[in-house]
Amino acid sequence: MKYLRTNSLKRLFSLKRRSLEDIVYTDGEGRNSENTKIVQEPKLSPRPSWKCFSFEEISDATNGFSQENLVGRGGYAEVYKGVLCGGEEIAIKRLTKTCRDERKEKDFLTEIGTIGHVCHPNVLSLLGCCTDNGLYLIFHFSSRGSVASLLHDENLPAMDWKTRYKIAIGTARGLHYLHKGCQRRIIHRDIKSSNILLTADFEPLISDFGLAKWLPSQWTHHSIAPIEGTFGHLAPEYYTHGIVDEKTDVFAFGVFLLEIISGRKPVDNSHQSIHIWAKPILNQGEIEKLVDPRLGETYDATQQKRLGFAASLCIRASSTWRPTMSELTGRGTSFQSPKIQVSAI
Ligand SMILES: Nc1ncnc2c1ncn2[C@@H]1O[C@H](COP(=O)(O)OP(=O)(O)O)[C@@H](O)[C@H]1O
Ligand SMILES: [Mg+2]
Repeated sequence: MKYLRTNSLKRLFSLKRRSLEDIVYTDGEGRNSENTKIVQEPKLSPRPSWKCFSFEEISDATNGFSQENLVGRGGYAEVYKGVLCGGEEIAIKRLTKTCRDERKEKDFLTEIGTIGHVCHPNVLSLLGCCTDNGLYLIFHFSSRGSVASLLHDENLPAMDWKTRYKIAIGTARGLHYLHKGCQRRIIHRDIKSSNILLTADFEPLISDFGLAKWLPSQWTHHSIAPIEGTFGHLAPEYYTHGIVDEKTDVFAFGVFLLEIISGRKPVDNSHQSIHIWAKPILNQGEIEKLVDPRLGETYDATQQKRLGFAASLCIRASSTWRPTMSELTGRGTSFQSPKIQVSAI
């Protein structure tokens, strides 16, 4: 435990962070994105910058981690809203006291290591961390909460189609960046609506890198045990053999698309997964039957077909038959890349 706290952190903080301005995005095979036209990401991204907060700063910001400021609770962490002296709203993720075993600490440090090096408009960026009196990650506060909280709250009006589409496209861009656009291949492993936060203008932000893995470029995949993630989102090759690669995230993204289109939860009260429910509908080509009935006629049928089609490809049982995020986001994230049309025939 001591080793993790001291040596891993030291190594982490001494890492020379390369300016993202120096980076030319490639498609993962060393080719420049300008030649292949696969990558649509902006070439210049601001350099990620984060700092170490003192415990006093974050304790003052949250009023001593008072329960009124508790905004979320996940598998191994609690998330508190805080306000810094300058008025900036922050979210503080605190490793739950009862979870302070070595593996959870390691996961927490992995999260700092991963999220501290990513920088994209659709990925939640790290403001800093604190290692006094526990382990804390500090982020900008997303005032609208997660996609799950907006989509499934029965007291709220149904989320309009335009917002759903914006969320689908932004999340695809963020995931494409993680797989292809940043310095290392990052497999998120827990893409789901409660891990997609929203900015004030409903731009999605991929968050929660607790299970994320950095994959060396020469590896085809990584075998993982124990299987972690969320039931209903797990790709077949992952839950049967522990195999993880980009296609694991693509499967989960397909489930997420179905959730956005239909407004259904990934697993319903009778424990049926949304992709099991959707498959026969998609196989019949009745994509419009997926649409959330609360939307009535107020959705764009062309966009809905595109998303439904993309979802049908992403949830294919065989990972090789699933598209990559490059194929999905090709041509300005239109979900219409020629490759997808070919593989759909
Ligand atoms: N930056 C943030 N702004 C607002 N709410 C957040 C933020 N980060 C997390 N949350 C809330 O806390 C919940 C749990 O956070 P998450 O990072 O997913 O933790 P866990 O790893 O425990 O699942 C999220 O679903 C969300 O509701
Ligand atoms: Mg989470």
